[in-house]
Parts: sequence; structure tokens; C-alpha cells
Amino acid sequence: MNNTILITGGAGYIGSHTTLALIAAGYDVVIVDNFSNSERWIPARIAELAGRPVQCIELDLCNAAATERCINEIRPAGVIHFAALKAVGESVADPLRYYRNNVTGTLNLLQAMRQHGCNHLVFSSSATVYGYPEQCPIDESAALCAINPYGRTKLMMEQAITDISSADPDFNAALLRYFNPAGAHPSGRLGELPRGAPNNLVPFVAQVAAGIRDRVRVFGNDYRTGDGTGVRDYIHVMDLAQAHVQALAYLQRERQDLVVNLGTGQGYSVLQIIQAFARTIGHDIPYEITERRPGDADACYANPSLAQALLGWKASRDLDAICADAWRWQLHLGAA
Ligand code: UFG
Repeated sequence: MNNTILITGGAGYIGSHTTLALIAAGYDVVIVDNFSNSERWIPARIAELAGRPVQCIELDLCNAAATERCINEIRPAGVIHFAALKAVGESVADPLRYYRNNVTGTLNLLQAMRQHGCNHLVFSSSATVYGYPEQCPIDESAALCAINPYGRTKLMMEQAITDISSADPDFNAALLRYFNPAGAHPSGRLGELPRGAPNNLVPFVAQVAAGIRDRVRVFGNDYRTGDGTGVRDYIHVMDLAQAHVQALAYLQRERQDLVVNLGTGQGYSVLQIIQAFARTIGHDIPYEITERRPGDADACYANPSLAQALLGWKASRDLDAICADAWRWQLHLGAA
């Protein structure tokens, strides 16, 4: 039986951890990546951690002909699709690049999959499709509403995939809506590689802890939350990776579509994250309260019970594990 899974964006943050999880589960994996937001040494690092070679093809999904050739050559049993741009601010400044890269790239991939009878797609979606959530915890039936170009690309990709699977009973897709991925591989040898100042809270806090930046800027303390700072659902990247393995198995077994939230169900405020990280490193982390960042919601955390019911998946790593693994990775990257 063909056991090969193609992972687009497999050299990226979540893609690299998922590649390892799939190999551990017994799949053959082929990474495709254009390295626009990842490093060329990552596939070798994955191979080192997996203890076996990993095939990697440099490919930009915006190139329809090359994408078609790749699918034709590999003939994967399924595809896990991570490759996308993901910075909200950048998407507001350069929306065309986001629509072209994310939406066109996905349509090219879908076209090639349809052409060559590849019928299982696991798609990297985001809680961003809920916009400003009306209530928390958020379940999958909550209203969908994107509030920036990045979010609109995620929503468009979800809609295109859903329409294609509705039109063809042989084609099945899993839409996985991540909350806030954080943490790193427990070896300390794989993790997120932010270019420049991190947009996301946990890597920013890690850089302050390492002395690379002088303080965390806490974006507002007048939100309608316990301590006034934004509340999010931080999910360990290793738990997230495992969910992809189970989603793929679900598609192969049930041959049905799937839409699930991937979060812990537990919200933490910005100040709680800073405190948890300070506990990990054993000293305080400097911060200052600044203006709100435009577009941020008060609170955003998942009801993850559908993923548990359908996939038997539940996050097993807590905030301390996220901080400990993010810190080990930061030490590997270097301190000031
Ligand atoms: N925050 C700070 N200081 C920082 C960075 C973040 O106070 O330097 C705060 C934010 O205001 C927010 C929380 O920390 O309250 C988390 O912010 P992140 O940028 O880490 O994450 P977001 O929840 O804003 O964004 C994440 C993903 C996006 C996705 C969004 C909604 O990174 O891709 O969730 O699903 F669109």
C-alpha cells in the first residue's frame, strides 16, 4: 500500500514537527517547501531527529506546472498542507502577496491532487477564521468572520476545500483550526525560527529571557479579562503535530470530512505567560504595558471536545512544558 504523505511547508515550524510525528507513526514522508520562511538545513535536522533520511523537494506551489509534476511523480496517499504566509500585519500591508501565495498556491495544489487521484487533504487552518469570537470557549459551529487579509485567505482556502469535497465524495479533507501554537521539540533541536522581531508572544518572551530584547511589550491591559491582558489558548506544537497524524488516519479510515479546533480549552493571559516563563528560567522577565495592538480580541480559547470525540486527540502538554521546551530551543539558538 502507498504510504507516502506529502507535506507542503514541511520545513516550517508546525510542518517540521508534524513530519517527525508522521515518521514516528510509520509513514514515508516527502517535504516540499520554497524556503521563503524556513531554513534549508531544517530537513537535515528532521532526518537527524528521525534517525533516517527525509526526502525534500524545493517547490513553490504558485508554480502550477511544477506542482502538478511533483504530485505526478510522488503520487502521495495524502497531503498535509502547511505552506502559507502567516503574518497578520504583513498581510494588511501586502494583501496581493497573501492572496497569490496562500490562495493560488492552494488552488494549484488542489488541482494537481484532483488530476492525479490524491484524495486526502489535511489543511492547516486557524482560529483566525472566528474573527472576534462572540463567546469563549469557541466551538466549530461559531460564526466565521475574517478580520484581516491573512484571515480571509484562510477562510477562502477552507471554503474552496469544502466545496471541492462536497462535489466529489471520493475527496475528503480535514480542516484543523489551530489556536496558539507554541513550544518546541523536547530535544531542543527543532522549533520556531522567527525572522527579525517575533510577532508572537512566546518567542518574543523567550528572546527577552535570553537578553536579546530588553523587555516584553504587553499590548494593552484594559481588555475584558481577569487581569486586563489578552487571553489565548497556547497549544504545544508536539500535541498539534500528533493531531495531524490522527486527522490523516481519520480521513483514511472514515473517508469523511472533518473540521476541528485544536486547542487545550484553557486560556492564559499575557501576564500569566510572562510569569510562567519567569518560573521556568528562575528570574523575572521585564515588561511594560503599551497600547493595544490593532485587531486583537479580548479572549480566544477553544472548546476542543470535538477533536477528542472524533480523533481521540487531546492536548497532553501543559504551559510549563511549553515554556521549558521553548526555553531549551532558545538556548540552542543562542542568548545575547
Ligand atoms: N502580545 C503581546 N506582546 C507581544 C506579542 C503578543 O502583548 O509582543 C499579546 C497579544 O496582544 C495577544 C497575545 O499576546 O493578546 C497573543 O498574541 P500572538 O501574536 O502570539 O497570537 P495571536 O493570538 O494574536 O495570533 C495567533 C496566530 C495568528 C492567528 C491568530 C488568531 O499567531 O496567526 O492567533 O487565530 F491569526
